[in-house]
Amino acid sequence: MFDENGEQYLDCINNVAHVGHCHPKVVKAAAKQMELLNTNSRFLHDSIVEYAKRLSATLPETLCVCFFTNSGSEANDLALRLARQYRGHQDVITLDHAYHGHLSSLIDISPYKFQIGKHVKKEFVHVAPHPDTYRGKYREDHPDPATAYANEVKKMIQDAHDSGRKIAAFIAESMQSCGGQIIPPAGYFQKVAKYVHGAGGVFIADEVQVGFGRVGKHFWSFQMCGEDFVPDIVTMGKPMGNGHPMACVVTTKEIAEAFSSSGMEYFNTYGGNPVSCVVGLTVLDIIENEDLQGNATRVGNYLTELLTEQKAKHTLIGDIRGIGLFVGIDLVKDQQKRTPATAEAQHVIYK
Ligand SMILES: Cc1ncc(COP(=O)(O)O)c(C=O)c1O
Repeated sequence: MFDENGEQYLDCINNVAHVGHCHPKVVKAAAKQMELLNTNSRFLHDSIVEYAKRLSATLPETLCVCFFTNSGSEANDLALRLARQYRGHQDVITLDHAYHGHLSSLIDISPYKFQIGKHVKKEFVHVAPHPDTYRGKYREDHPDPATAYANEVKKMIQDAHDSGRKIAAFIAESMQSCGGQIIPPAGYFQKVAKYVHGAGGVFIADEVQVGFGRVGKHFWSFQMCGEDFVPDIVTMGKPMGNGHPMACVVTTKEIAEAFSSSGMEYFNTYGGNPVSCVVGLTVLDIIENEDLQGNATRVGNYLTELLTEQKAKHTLIGDIRGIGLFVGIDLVKDQQKRTPATAEAQHVIYK
């Protein structure tokens, strides 16, 4: 990437080159495996088993069945299929401004996309307010924003039931990324999960952008909510292969068995192929061996510190929020009203 003065930046790019561009160990592992074998993932290979074991070791015990795919979109599409098969329900609750991928099934549940143009919201989709305590409906001065936002979901479920509909899933990024770098208030996801489970639905945590240690303190962003919160399905992608196209859905035995008992096996030619799996294993090794979670915390804190200094100087900066290397700068036209400074933000992005 080049800035406006022609300065080159190597590792400053959207959440994929997670362990660094062309990390020599990743390059070597991929090349070695390509020389040996790469094939249709219908044929079993040790690396897929080894990788599934390593990945599930990073997650709570119940999340132990992995389905490998080639993109975050494929992972989220499969997560919806798993959720719908589980109890036979169809409806999905999604957060306002969410983006979950480019397949038709995901555009339907991505207000960030479907609110543009002529795409009409499908009747099985319910859009809950995103839990933004800076600019949302309930802010940091609200006595209990987590409950207030979760009650919106509760009401949505009630309304859906009243019109004869049934909830299959609630889907959200563990921290909303392109929807505004939103960190949900403590306790929000626990409350939402309780209502969604009560309705026979499942909780899908999209970790495509925010997983693999980006938040530093934890390997998965949903773990920021505490040990009493465990999603039913976790989807992951982007940093998983450091740019190599690989993604995954991890779920419980119960949900996976409900899917396989339908007789419809999941088959994906490339998902979990031997090259992808050795790449994935190498990325996990690097995150651990190079203490990249510690790095995310240290560099993230430093970045936030510098940005906070800038905030004191520029009234354009309304809010700096983030954890680890998940950091957002909210530009505003007016500090009090928090009116988004859209044109200014666009200018900074293009620069
Ligand atoms: C949160 C989130 N989920 C899913 C996706 C889709 O992933 P992919 O582009 O790999 O299909 C993206 C991509 O930007 C994303 O940001």
